Parts: sequence; C-alpha cells; structure tokens
Amino acid sequence: MKKLASLLCGVCCLLLASCAASPEKVREKIDFNDGWRFLLGDEPQAEEVGFADTAWRALDLPHDWAIEGDFSQDNPSGTGGGALPGGIGWYRKTFVPDKADADKKFRIVFDGVYMNSEVFLNGVSLGHRPYGYITFSYDLTPHLKWGEKNVLAVRVDNSEQPNSRWYSGCGIYRNVWLVKTGAVHVAEWGTYATVSEVSDAQADLDIQTRVANESAMPAQVKVHSSLLDAEGLIVASGETDCFVEAGKETEVSQQLKVGNPERWDIDTPYLYTLLTEVVQEGKQVDRYETPVGIRSFSFDAEKGFILNGRPMKINGVCMHHDLGCLGAAVNVRAMERQLEILKEMGCNGIRCSHNPPAPELLDLCDRMGFIVMDEAFDMWRKKKTSHDYARYFDEWYERDLRDFILRDRNHPSIFIWSIGNEVLEQWSDAKADTLSLEEANLILNFGHSADMLAKEGEMSVNSLLAKRLAEFVKALDPTRPITTGCNEPNPANHLFKSGAMDIIGYNYHNANIPDVPKNFPNKPFIITESNSALATRGYYRMPSDKVTVCPDRWDKPYYDPTFACSAYDNCHVPWGNTHEETIKLIRDNAFISGQYVWTGFDYIGEPTPYGWPARSSYFGIVDLAGFPKDAYYLYQAEWSDKPVLHLFPHWNWTPGQDIDMWCYYNNADEVELFVNGKSQGVKAKTPDCLHAAWRVKFEPGSVKVVARKEGKVVGEKEIRTAGTPAQIRLTPDRSNLYADGRDLSFVTVEILDKDGNLCPNADNLVRFQVEGNAFIAGVDNGSPISMERFKDNKRKAFYGKCLVVLQNTGDAGGARLKAVSDGLRDAEVSITAE
Ligand code: GAL
Repeated sequence: MKKLASLLCGVCCLLLASCAASPEKVREKIDFNDGWRFLLGDEPQAEEVGFADTAWRALDLPHDWAIEGDFSQDNPSGTGGGALPGGIGWYRKTFVPDKADADKKFRIVFDGVYMNSEVFLNGVSLGHRPYGYITFSYDLTPHLKWGEKNVLAVRVDNSEQPNSRWYSGCGIYRNVWLVKTGAVHVAEWGTYATVSEVSDAQADLDIQTRVANESAMPAQVKVHSSLLDAEGLIVASGETDCFVEAGKETEVSQQLKVGNPERWDIDTPYLYTLLTEVVQEGKQVDRYETPVGIRSFSFDAEKGFILNGRPMKINGVCMHHDLGCLGAAVNVRAMERQLEILKEMGCNGIRCSHNPPAPELLDLCDRMGFIVMDEAFDMWRKKKTSHDYARYFDEWYERDLRDFILRDRNHPSIFIWSIGNEVLEQWSDAKADTLSLEEANLILNFGHSADMLAKEGEMSVNSLLAKRLAEFVKALDPTRPITTGCNEPNPANHLFKSGAMDIIGYNYHNANIPDVPKNFPNKPFIITESNSALATRGYYRMPSDKVTVCPDRWDKPYYDPTFACSAYDNCHVPWGNTHEETIKLIRDNAFISGQYVWTGFDYIGEPTPYGWPARSSYFGIVDLAGFPKDAYYLYQAEWSDKPVLHLFPHWNWTPGQDIDMWCYYNNADEVELFVNGKSQGVKAKTPDCLHAAWRVKFEPGSVKVVARKEGKVVGEKEIRTAGTPAQIRLTPDRSNLYADGRDLSFVTVEILDKDGNLCPNADNLVRFQVEGNAFIAGVDNGSPISMERFKDNKRKAFYGKCLVVLQNTGDAGGARLKAVSDGLRDAEVSITAE
C-alpha cells in the first residue's frame, strides 16, 4: 500500500543527513519511522549487519503486530489482554549516515516499545528496556559508520503473558526519532520551565537548562532563553554564561518576567514557547523548544480544584492507550479524534491509566485544554498478572520514574502525578512483604542512614516505598501534587499512612467519600477512578420486573449471559456506581475536586465481568469504534453548556410491549413524550434524578420528545419505527486530509431503511472497496464480542452501525470509498488529501 513517496523516503533515509539536514539546522528531530523490515518470530543473529532480512516484511512504524492477529481463546494474553497474539518480533532498518555529519551526535529515541526491547546498532547491543510504556533513547554516535550501511535492529519480546490487565499491543508501537545535535547541546529533556507568582500583571517564569558537552574540550557558552507568544513574538528573554567541562553537563537557572500573561485554561489553552539557544563563540550551536502554559492552580481540602483562581470540577475520564481497530499503534489523528469526541461531551480531564502515554497525547492535551493526571505504574513490587512489570520493579523503577517525569514535566496540561494505580502495597500481606526495612533500604535505594531507619522503624516497608517514590518525583518536579489511585479507602492504607500523598485519591468507594474530610483532615481529595458502569451501545433489555426508572435501580449488576449489557444507566460492577450517582455525589460535595470516570472510550481487553468470547471492555462512555453510548448525553447535559436533548432507546419493538423511554436533556424546564402524537406525560429532572423516564406501550410509528423552557418549545427529537434495511449511509468525520501518509478519515457506516431511518438492529455484512490515495487502516463496529478481524475490508454492522477508517497513502489527490452489502443499495463517498 505504501506508495512511491514512501519508497523514496526509504531511499532518502539511506542518505539520511543529506535529505534531512540543511546546513544551518543545529538540531534535527528526524522521523525515523519509515522503511523498516519486520519478522514475527525469533532468529539468531538477526542483529548482525550481514543478516539477510530481504524476506522480512517491509513496513513503516508505528506498528502493532497483535492488532493484525486473530482473536483466540488460546492466545496467552487471555481475554483480559484482548485475546490477541503476543510473541517475539524483530525490526531492522538500514541507513547510511552522511560523512559530513561525522562531527554530529545522534540519539535514537523510542517513544515506546511493548515490551522487553533490546536495541542493536551494527550488531552491538545498546541496551535493554523492559517497561513497555516508557520513552527511552540511546546514543548511536560511538557505533555509527559514516558513509556506510548501518543496521539498527530491535528485538521485542512480549512472549511471556499475561503481563497486562488490558490490551497492550506488541512491537514498536510508538514513534521513533533520530535526534541530531552538535557536540554541545541542550541535554535530553534538558529544560524545565515552571511558573510562579501569576497575576494579571505578571508571571514569573523559572527556567532550568541542562547543557551537555559531548566534545573533548571544555565549552564556554551562553544560554539564551526567549519566551515566544502564540504569534511567535518574543515577550521576555535572558542570557546566561555557562561553562561545561568536557563530557559533563551544567545546569543554568534563569528567571524571566512575563507581562500581562495569557492564561492556559481548559477553554483557552494558550501556549507560549520557550526557545532555548546555546551560543558558543558567537555561533548558535543548539536551538530547542519547550511548551509553556501559564496557569495557577491548587487543590484545596474544602473547595476542591481551583484553576486560575476559579473553583471548578475536574470532569475527567480514564483512558487506556489503544485506538480501537488501529490497536496500540500511535496515530495522532486517532488520538485527536478521541479527545475531540470527549471534549464535545464536556470532558475536561484525562487520566493516562495506568502508564505513561504517548508524548503526542500530552501535546494534544496541552493544545486542547485537558487536566491530565499522568500515571506511572499499575503495579509496584507486587504483581497483578504473572509476568508483569513487578518483576522488573526493583531494578528499574527509579530509572523509569525519572524518565517519565523528565519527559513530561513541561506539559502545562499535567496537573497531578499518580505514582500508581491500586498497587497491592496498600495492604500488608505477610507472604509478599518479605523485605525487612534494612533490605528494602538497600534494594529499593531509600538511601536511609541507620538513624533514619530506626526513626522510621514505625513505618511499614510499603509506606516507606510510597514515600520514596513520592520524594523521588518531588525532587524532579515540586510544582505538582502527587496521588495514587487507591482502592482501599481506610486511612490505615499504607500509602495514606506514608503521609506522602498530596491528594487523597480513591478509585470507587463512593460510600466512604463523605467521610474523607473526617478521615483525612486538611487533605484535598479527588475520585481518581469512578463508576465502571457497563453498557453496550445499541442494546436495551426491555423492560422487566427489574425497574429501570430512577431513583430505583437494580440492586445488583445484571451480568447478561449474551455479553451485552443494557444501555440504561443502571448496571455496574459491584465496586462501582452508576454515572448519575457519582455526578450527584460530586455536585453535592464542594471538597471533591472531581472525577476520572472509568472509562471515556471502551478499550481492548478487560471485558469484566464477562469472559470469552467477550474481548473488549464495556466500561466506555463511547464504544470502541468511537460511537457514543447513551451515557455520553448524560455527561454532555451535565458537564457542558451545549443544548442536549437525547431520547432513547430506538422505536422498533413488538406491538404492546412495555418500553422504558429515557431522556437526557438540559436548558429546559420540562420534557413531554408523545407516542404517535399522544402525550405520555410531562416530566422533569430532579436533583435526585438526572433523566426523565416514561414506561409506555410500543406501537409502530413515532416516539417524540418535546423540551420546553418557560413554556416555549426549545427542542424536539423524534424516532420513527424503521422498516427493513434498504440502503447504506457513509459519513466521513473529515473529507479533507493531509497528504502525509498518516492522516485518517473515520467513516461511519449506517444501515438505513428506504426512508432514511437507522435500522437499530441491523447486522448486515458490509464490504468496502477503496480507490485512489487511501487505504483501509481498520474496521470496527463496537461489538465487544465480535471475532471479526480489525484489519479487513469488511465488517458486520452492530446495532445498525459500523466504522471504516481510511488512511492517506502519502499522496495528494482523491480517494473513493464504496460500501456494498447484499440486498442494500450501495453507497459511495469521496475524500481528498493535500
Ligand atoms: C479498577 C482498575 C481499572 C479497571 C477497573 C475495572 O479497579 O483500576 O484498571 O480494572 O477496575 O472496573
């Protein structure tokens, strides 16, 4: 599918510097994703330069081999990991560095490789990195052969499974960059800009810059820092002399005053850019950019979260990293689309659960105005699955935590560091707590003297570990509070007892939340994770002796053996709550800073509470394909100012059947339901019940809701009984793409009757043909139990809808998508790219 441009780029990359460099560029971040060879399997000596890889598959990164596979009950990831394959894979890339660059320094940066990667250059191992979510890099310079063929080889080992409680993906699933600098340059993640003392008149910007000198001679340089506004105009600048010994780094501190600062806020995420220039003997030798957002914030034990002086709630969602049918392979447009859908809902916060995200996600959050809780780990020393990160923790946690904070601490969207999710160290467990304090001090590098240990002897090893992690983060970034997602609400929880949590964070346990001010005096509080409410888009169980009308609800979650959970807001896991319950709890308690709902989107894996053939989650407010479930409109009504009038379910039932009709709305005093023109009563939301509900008898025709404000009609929604499937409708989310080989158009496919009504139960198989400069990157329909492949040119509709994702090939011009299905009228749609 990759066309000429990409082939040319492959050739171009062989002549790397000559195609990528222009002489005046002192630093380049070169996209190193194109032109790799891949083998699913293991081969001896595959790292050697002379190894014959021509039979291997040619591909471009980012790449996730698991998403290309078939679901199977026998895949060792289990349904928790998405029932997709794991294994070992190799990647190789050949390139020829230009001799003219022999005085330059080259680092290869991997934003993320899942997992257990080992990287080789020309047969020499550069290092091994177990954690699959961490960004890491290696210095290539000492091993490069100028003007000759060089081979970068990466072995990825995701064979030992399960190692995750959700779908991880497999391979080099995030971007790879080649960073080229001179010998004297800003060190990796070498700037740190923080804002203090913000007022309308002025903000103080404190800047620390680490300058690295990789030359053999000492360097006397100037560090010039300028703050540019969004138009690129310099609003403040300063220069400092700096001496760096050969082979060493020196840190420089500077302060800038910014007059009349524009604030970064959720609706106006204004970004400045800090431009760092390193000047040696009058010549610029490096130039480095850092995003800066000027905002003040605090978490208050009584008032909750305060942003730029204004108390507000964090209306957030938790997200895992997969992108539905695209798998874990990073695609910026796919991430942006998810965030757009969430923003439209009124969501203003993202929790990167439960691991460091792709850096591009944080860039998007900076730009789009989300309050991010950035999370390091899902486990510490105690494992949750048999082969997870716990086995690497002792050796790697400091390095991973350091790299995580250094990489991310300049993002204005990050407001909270989470050092763990539901880590089992919350509790004592005689079997697992095998370390004595002395051993822990040594193994975990607490750095305590015997005196300190004696003093802290009262503290458990688990509390000390929490304290150690928190202190470690604080030393790298004292500007943000630290929390953990705890599922033990008792103050005796070792993590709370450590005293190291700036914010108390609960996952679930709504019943304990009113006691937080008593149990944790003077501590701010946030619901780090909530609800785990279950729903399948488009599926409704009707009605029943189980009352589905608020305020009553089912006592226990109803685990439907058909693996489809009713879309009403009344079903959740035993540790969770309904969406409405948590919204009300937060509304009524000023001290709660907000919540991160589990989850914004469905994700692959963790189909809790179901087992095979369920293979993706039911928790999303939006399904895996990106289609909103009904709860989406509840949040939109409560969290946003957009006018909402959402009536559900559909209107295709058996005549005479009892149907519960629900309506989420805002900006109206009352809503009235009509069945074939006959009023079914006027209803209104109450503080206790955030929806209107009617139980009505089905008769074919129309059901309509009318919203009124002060007696005036402000909205109407009608659903008509659909006839048999007759036609297909294609609706691309975007029709004009960038011709960059990455951009996507998400095309919604709907099955309609002859009059254009959505057929709510349609499951027709739809086949896709694409001509022109696009190809199918994936297909989905949001069903958590579909065994169909994500990489295919066909998909069955699920409750009337499916999705096809078109990706630009890299060429400008047009593409045409045709959708056909037996017995239905075809549909076609065109997109362009430039
Ligand atoms: C939480 C956990 C999440 C997810 C969720 C499902 O306890 O933190 O990762 O497993 O349960 O309800």
